Amino acid sequence: MKKSIGAKPLLCPSPVWVIGTYDAEGKPNIMTASWAGTCCSSPPCVAVSLRSATYSHAGIQLNQAFTVNVMPRSMMAESDFCGIASGRDTNKWEKAGLTPVRSELVNAPYIAEAPFVAECVLKHTAELGLHTMFVGEIVDLKADATVLNDKGKPEMKKIDPFLFSMGDMQYFAVGEVIAKAFEVGKIFCD
Ligand SMILES: Cc1cc2nc3c(=O)[nH]c(=O)nc-3n(C[C@H](O)[C@H](O)[C@H](O)COP(=O)(O)O)c2cc1C
Repeated sequence: MKKSIGAKPLLCPSPVWVIGTYDAEGKPNIMTASWAGTCCSSPPCVAVSLRSATYSHAGIQLNQAFTVNVMPRSMMAESDFCGIASGRDTNKWEKAGLTPVRSELVNAPYIAEAPFVAECVLKHTAELGLHTMFVGEIVDLKADATVLNDKGKPEMKKIDPFLFSMGDMQYFAVGEVIAKAFEVGKIFCD
């Protein structure tokens, strides 16, 4: 029998994405967001939910743009730091040794050291409560050649992202490939 543990945002796992924005002075900033995910295939869109108290929130509204930086396990401490400190009073780039790159497509910076990046223009905003959900349309993906497979597609094993679990406040590595998607379930098809 299941036990009720209440209405809480504890579903797992969540991605660990770092969101790139410019502030009103054009200063680049980065913050970690896990309340985030792909939300439309065509046009390709992502949703990221930020509290208005974050410095990045105003940057997205002002510039109508943000980047999503998919962080590898090797950059876990840098990613965590971007979720602890605020760009309001800290230069996270300098402290974490990260390099901002000006996107040529959207008014937001991305992280040179991140292997896989999405450049997004703001399409929709929904006030959900504590968080504002920003839906961004992906206008381009930028990937290091080292994380692409021979078909030019991003390979998760090469990106080596990691996951967040709010329930136990821990990061988890992504495991092994276990089956082909849209294939393994065919055993139940007539
Ligand atoms: C793993 C992790 C995930 C986070 N996810 C979110 C999120 O989805 N939305 C949010 O508003 N804050 C989230 N935070 C907290 C912000 O990253 C944090 O408040 C940050 O200092 C905001 O930076 P800024 O003020 O420079 O924008 C997260 C922090 C961590 C460590």
